[in-house]
Amino acid sequence: MLLEVKNLNLWYGGKHTLRDINFSINLGEVLCVVGESGSGKSSILSAIMGLLPRYAKVSGSIKFKGKELIGLSDNHYRKLRGRHISMVFQEPSAYLDPLFKIGTQVEEAYVAHFGKTGVKEKALQALKDAGIRDAERVYNAYPHHLSGGMKQRVCIAIATICDPELILADEPTTALDVSVQKKILSLFRHLKDKGKAIVLVTHDFGVVAEVADRVIVLKDGVIVEEKDVFNIFDNPEHPYTKRLLTAL
Ligand SMILES: Nc1ncnc2c1ncn2[C@@H]1O[C@H](COP(=O)(O)OP(=O)(O)OP(=O)(O)O)[C@@H](O)[C@H]1O
Ligand SMILES: [Mg+2]
Repeated sequence: MLLEVKNLNLWYGGKHTLRDINFSINLGEVLCVVGESGSGKSSILSAIMGLLPRYAKVSGSIKFKGKELIGLSDNHYRKLRGRHISMVFQEPSAYLDPLFKIGTQVEEAYVAHFGKTGVKEKALQALKDAGIRDAERVYNAYPHHLSGGMKQRVCIAIATICDPELILADEPTTALDVSVQKKILSLFRHLKDKGKAIVLVTHDFGVVAEVADRVIVLKDGVIVEEKDVFNIFDNPEHPYTKRLLTAL
């Protein structure tokens, strides 16, 4: 297993937010995490990325390639983030720095791990791999020159330039138009076909239908159902899952 989460519990202050979360994911798989707002989806990703606030307390185990992540030092996490585990967020505009050219921001992700040699070629290739045809123009553009869909492609380029095994995506298409959503989702399918493991958070079963291999359904910090994508649609068991499905 690439990533194995066992009995993960999380408290924000006194608030027990995740309860006994168990799941795992292998290379070449897309796992969707579904649930209503506040169910704890993003908290699971923050726990994996080591980005929880200081006052958060966790117990249980998160193993990546057999190595325990809970309690890992900042220094070790810095070597992991971007290089082996990366993240794509809901709002590309919030993630990209308006003051720097796209090229600089894509390169930064690479330089941190591999140094400057050949970085421009790498950045242009990453942009192309993220489905950007006029990569040279985008490389020289500032974020405000680009559409939302194009910015999200840039964020995917940033998340993939170091060829990480695991990509976490937190509602990566929610802020985009439906037609653009489809294109971004097909990029995630392509990454899966290239052997990446992807944990994709969504509240949208339409997204699940497009990309998921397996689904976990989260309610109030508890996994209430886990199924492969066919069974979740054909044979939902938990009333909460059925409710989310009818909302589709
Ligand atoms: N940094 C934080 N400090 C304190 N409480 C938090 C923090 N982040 C999230 N929470 C709380 O934990 C619970 C789960 O939040 P989380 O953001 O993980 O849910 P979510 O499923 O991602 O929701 P959404 O769909 O709205 O993004 C919520 O009650 C939220 O208010
Ligand atoms: Mg969230």
